[in-house]
Order: sequence, then C-alpha cells, then structure tokens
Amino acid sequence: MKDEQIAELLYQALETEIGGVQVYTTALRCAENEDLKEEWEKYLEQTENHVTIMENVLTKLELDPNAETPGRQVVRTIGEALVESMELALAEGEPGAAQLAAAEAVVLAETKDHQNWHLIGEVSKNSRGDVAKILKEAYDEVEHEEDEHYYHTKGWARELWMESLGMKAVLPPPEEVKKVDTAIDAARAEQARTKMASSK
Ligand SMILES: [Fe+2]
Ligand SMILES: [Fe+2]
Repeated sequence: MKDEQIAELLYQALETEIGGVQVYTTALRCAENEDLKEEWEKYLEQTENHVTIMENVLTKLELDPNAETPGRQVVRTIGEALVESMELALAEGEPGAAQLAAAEAVVLAETKDHQNWHLIGEVSKNSRGDVAKILKEAYDEVEHEEDEHYYHTKGWARELWMESLGMKAVLPPPEEVKKVDTAIDAARAEQARTKMASSK
C-alpha cells in the first residue's frame, strides 16, 4: 500500500469530520421535526467525538493534524458549500424548505464520511503493526455510527420529500425505526416503506 495516500485518506477523513460538525450545527437550525432534531443532536455529538478520534489517530501515527493537503482543501470547500446551501434555504424562509435542504446536505456529507471509514477499515485489514492496531481501534469505535448517520438520514431525506410532495410519508423513516446499519437492510427498509405508507 502507498503510505502517502493512506495519510491523504486520514487527512480527508479528519477534514470531513470537521466539516460535519459545521454541517450538523447548521442543519439543526433548519430542522423542524422533533425526532429529526433529536437524531441530529446525537449525530453532532458523535461527529465532534470523531474529530477528536481522527486527531488522535494522526498524532499516534506521527502525522501533524494541522498539515494542509490539496485533497483536504477540496473536502473543506465541499463542506462550506453544504453549509452555504442550508443558509440559502434558511434565508428564503419557506416552511420545510430548509429542513429538506439540510437533509440532503447531511446525506452528501455522510456519503463521504461513510466511505472514508469504510476505507479506513480496509486499510487496517491490509496493514500490520501499529498502523493496523491504531486504525482498527478507531474503526471499531466509529464505523457503526457512520452506518447509522448515512442510512438513517437517507431515509429522512426521502420521507421528508414524499411529505412535501403531498404523498404518504413514513415518519420517522423505517431505516430509523428498524435501526438499519447495513446496505442490505437499508434496501429492505426502503422496500417495506411502500407497504407502511399505504397502510397508514
Ligand atoms: Fe463521522
Ligand atoms: Fe457521520
């Protein structure tokens, strides 16, 4: 494996978590649904903890958490754009619009976050010694939370859109009710929603 690219992944992962804190802080100003607010408050807290975990990982690997990389700047720019997208929707003031924009911003942010942690897991499996141990420890602590962030928020974005279109929505989404944490269960939950929506 290429050490330099492993460092790049870890820097991007840290930057994604830092951006994630900003994304959730702004998303919470957009949220109207009480269950969603509660969910995102929990995810904000977990994301703040992920920042600390990633800083510790980098330090333990003798990498400077403040080092700048071109890839890190790309990640930061996207995070800032996601925050700006929510600010725009908030400024428009249409009821529900900012909440929808926020759900989509969180899905986009969590898509990268989820992939980062999947890759960190792959690197740890294919490494030896300290690198393997340090990455595995962090992965075991964080990965299951990332599954929840990603799959559950995807469910929220879909159902909030359904509701806004005047169609039957399942709220909170089945992904959350069924505590989905794998791609296969997410697909099942999405399939089951049609039945749940029509039986309402
Ligand atoms: Fe995270
Ligand atoms: Fe996350």
